[in-house]
Amino acid sequence: MAAKILLIALLALASSHALASDPSPLQDFCVADMDSKVRVNGFVCKDPTVVKAEDFFSTGLDKAGDTGKKLGSNVTAVNVNKIVGLNTLGISMVRIDYAPKGLNAPHTHPRATEILTVIEGQLFVGFVTSNSDNGNRLFTKMLKKGDVFVFPEGLIHFQFNPGHTNTVAIGALSSQNPGTITIANAVFGSKPPISDEVLAKAFQITRMAAKTLLLALLAVASSLAMASDPSPLQDFCVADKDSKVLVNGFVCKDPKVVKAEDFFFRGLDKAGDTGKKLGSNIAEMAAKILLISLLAMASSLAMASDPSPLQDFCVADKASKVLVNGFVCKDPMQVTAEDFFAMGLDKAGNTENKVGSMVTAVNVNKLAGLNTLGISMVRIDYAPRGLNPPHTHPRATEILTVIEGQLLVGFVTSNTDNGNRLFTKMLKKGDVFVFPEGLIHFQFNPGHKTVAIGALSSQNPGTITIANAVFGSKPPISDDVLAKAFQVDKKTVDWLQAQFWADNNN
Ligand SMILES: *[C@@H]1O[C@H](CO)[C@@H](O)[C@H](O)[C@H]1NC(C)=O
Repeated sequence: MAAKILLIALLALASSHALASDPSPLQDFCVADMDSKVRVNGFVCKDPTVVKAEDFFSTGLDKAGDTGKKLGSNVTAVNVNKIVGLNTLGISMVRIDYAPKGLNAPHTHPRATEILTVIEGQLFVGFVTSNSDNGNRLFTKMLKKGDVFVFPEGLIHFQFNPGHTNTVAIGALSSQNPGTITIANAVFGSKPPISDEVLAKAFQITRMAAKTLLLALLAVASSLAMASDPSPLQDFCVADKDSKVLVNGFVCKDPKVVKAEDFFFRGLDKAGDTGKKLGSNIAEMAAKILLISLLAMASSLAMASDPSPLQDFCVADKASKVLVNGFVCKDPMQVTAEDFFAMGLDKAGNTENKVGSMVTAVNVNKLAGLNTLGISMVRIDYAPRGLNPPHTHPRATEILTVIEGQLLVGFVTSNTDNGNRLFTKMLKKGDVFVFPEGLIHFQFNPGHKTVAIGALSSQNPGTITIANAVFGSKPPISDDVLAKAFQVDKKTVDWLQAQFWADNNN
């Protein structure tokens, strides 16, 4: 019995080590000092000698939120912005109120798993898996008082109150600031809007319909269920190289002045100078790479959702019947160079599909040696006017370079960052762009044939194509839920659900 409990506790520990995206605390507590002007990942700590119990306290979660607005739900979040003591502790809480027929519309939390219990009424809940899991499976469950349900990190989920009385739920999230991305708002209500050509192609509707949907959703952006948080700090933390403050990594730039430029680098198409004495260029490069990898280590400690390796390598043993987080390791004595090798990324993917693009991924499923190493690679081919439609990677940041052609790229921040800001940039050959972990992003080829190579900070980043997950899940999400979420009639939803949602991931 004791052995069983120990085993379970160890498994829980191992998987918490593996999955949390918040950094582990490095002291008992680090109460957020909201008055400090220094920006870091999260908040700097108050002097611990002046910390009081009040810093770990907030009140009022017994009070119902006002569900009078359009969607009929209201999320009251108690995160680091309300309890400063939550800083570095990787957890927060919510109370959600639902009027009869009230909906908490399809959304994701880029930085957290959510666990929720119904304390009054009933709740129809669901989440949709990523594309690679047999194509966006929908998991739903009818909950009653006392029931508990889990929504895995980064996946699209929703809750709907089908009853005639109010419902109340209490949830917890595995981040001090989980962030919320309401799909309809982020996709159709970003500021500035995503081009209607991109949306028309992604959602397989006419440009006119995309425009109409866009305007309708902009009009109701104010009826968002999630109360707006004051702090936009956590979608990204762009390094402020001018700051004299030394921290682990860099302090953050003021997010208000962050531009698409900050996720962008130009010049990777230039060949390095090989004319110099052998080694000199390599030494410079090595120093740079060391710096970059140290930074990557620091930020992987802070942000990576993949577990850190505990040995040199752990090549996936696909033949094993044992299921763990990732894969069990092959006997290291049987490992060969072939295990770290894949081929064919020079071959163009077939872009003859509805969206005109193809992603060829080299992840742990194709390259067994990637197991536990927290990285993978993709080649993306785009036909003229081809689109890699709006999607998220629940477990990875992506960095991408154009090796042929040109690409219009963009990502949308979460609701709390001033309401879904859109960052876009036109890329040409050699340009590099970063898409922060969990955020919705897309690429569109406005010109001739384009090829890009990208890397993702997970051995198995997962892809959630928004249109496919929302309108093409199996079984479909109820048209009641989608009609309300996207503010269109059920006929439109039924029509969208009847479409064939091509997956451009290979
Ligand atoms: C949620 O409820 C609070 C408290 O009643 C209210 O101030 C807020 O405006 C409500 N938010 C929405 C989006 O309805």
